[in-house]
Amino acid sequence: MATVSTKQVFRIQHRLLRKVFQQHLRLCSNQSLRTKQQLQDDYDNCYVEPQETAQFATPPEKIVHDQDVGPQFSAKDLGVRLAAPGQLQPKPDADDLGFGKHFTDHMLKVFYHKNLGGWQKPEITPLENLVMHPAAKVLHYAVELFEGMKAYRGVDGKIRLFRPDMNMSRMNLTARRSGLPTFDGREYVNCMARLISIDQEWVPHTEAASLYIRPTLIGIDPTLGVASSDSALLYTILCPVGTYFKADTSGAVSLLADPKYTRAWPGGVGNRKMGSNYAPTINVQKEASKKGLQQVLWLYGDDHQLTEVGTMNIFMLHVNEQGEKELVTPPLDGLILPGITRDSILALGRQWGQFKVTERKFTMPEVIQLLEKGRLLELFGTGTACVVSPINRIHYLDQDYYIPTMDQEKPVFQKLCDTLTGIQYGKIKDHPWAVTID
Ligand SMILES: Cc1ncc(COP(=O)(O)O)c(C=O)c1O
Repeated sequence: MATVSTKQVFRIQHRLLRKVFQQHLRLCSNQSLRTKQQLQDDYDNCYVEPQETAQFATPPEKIVHDQDVGPQFSAKDLGVRLAAPGQLQPKPDADDLGFGKHFTDHMLKVFYHKNLGGWQKPEITPLENLVMHPAAKVLHYAVELFEGMKAYRGVDGKIRLFRPDMNMSRMNLTARRSGLPTFDGREYVNCMARLISIDQEWVPHTEAASLYIRPTLIGIDPTLGVASSDSALLYTILCPVGTYFKADTSGAVSLLADPKYTRAWPGGVGNRKMGSNYAPTINVQKEASKKGLQQVLWLYGDDHQLTEVGTMNIFMLHVNEQGEKELVTPPLDGLILPGITRDSILALGRQWGQFKVTERKFTMPEVIQLLEKGRLLELFGTGTACVVSPINRIHYLDQDYYIPTMDQEKPVFQKLCDTLTGIQYGKIKDHPWAVTID
């Protein structure tokens, strides 16, 4: 039998040990415990708005489960098989996390088998490889979808999720579009909360990092044939993450906008988060990198509409014809992913009432015209991975266009970013978008 060293025991993050050794287990951290004064300073610097926040800018579509999906699974049936002490991985330093390189010790799985009555009991297991038949639908027809969420360790030590109901709703809409079984999002969030609670010492103790949550749903029927899935696996893995991509020294990103590429089209699945939307973007991203540009600006149509930037939604702040400041983002017309950060920014912007907020199409010729007239103020991307990412340059039809996002005295993107991270890290207390995990 393998012996367990003292070092390994200290790396065990299961609940009892955590409570006893809480101060010693900050291995996934580069930050010492905060003093009460630091907490207060952080809180004071945050943009706390006294008004109620509207829950949604656009409420998600309601999920109606097909009758033949069968009964739903329940979090109360969750089984837990913990990793043995010798299986536990050392936690990386928060300075060296990157994105998606390190995984926690456990994962969550729920199988669906129509011939066994549908959804089976959920189970937490040690992180392990998946075994499947080589004919599994996921391997042939990309019957796969996923979500991207985060757990944040707040300044008060509590772990929070951000609007997880929105991710579950989007995931179910994608499942329906993919011929995969839908599930009860609330029950799945409860299962994920337990997983995070078990692996809680992997949630970085710093605001520069968080725990990325990757719920995934795949078709695993062992049959070739383009058809809906009678067998599926819903699973979640977790990884502590730092920044998603590198910005330049100013903190802003530059973009390649090449109209010969498009990410989505009317009637397609650009508004669904399926893996098959992402593979075709990799080569274009490589082309951008070769040109020294950090991200791709996805255009659509003969008028070169701006749709998304990399894996983010896009926003433009400008002075409109009436001389008012206006924040614009493309509408949810099927070409863009209904981002949860996007929805939150629209809701905050409307709540603040400091500028007009509009969902409408806008094009590269309009961006260039606004730039020429000195009326373009800010362009930024938004998403779970980076929250808000300012844009300072677009390379379009062999020309560079410099965007003055970083030149604004009090940039709106910064206020939005501070407010969202304030909610996520618990500086803005008891916000309805922040869901605390016990
Ligand atoms: C294509 C695309 N657009 C936008 C987003 C932003 O969505 P969210 O704010 O929900 O992270 C993402 C990230 O999930 C994405 O992959």
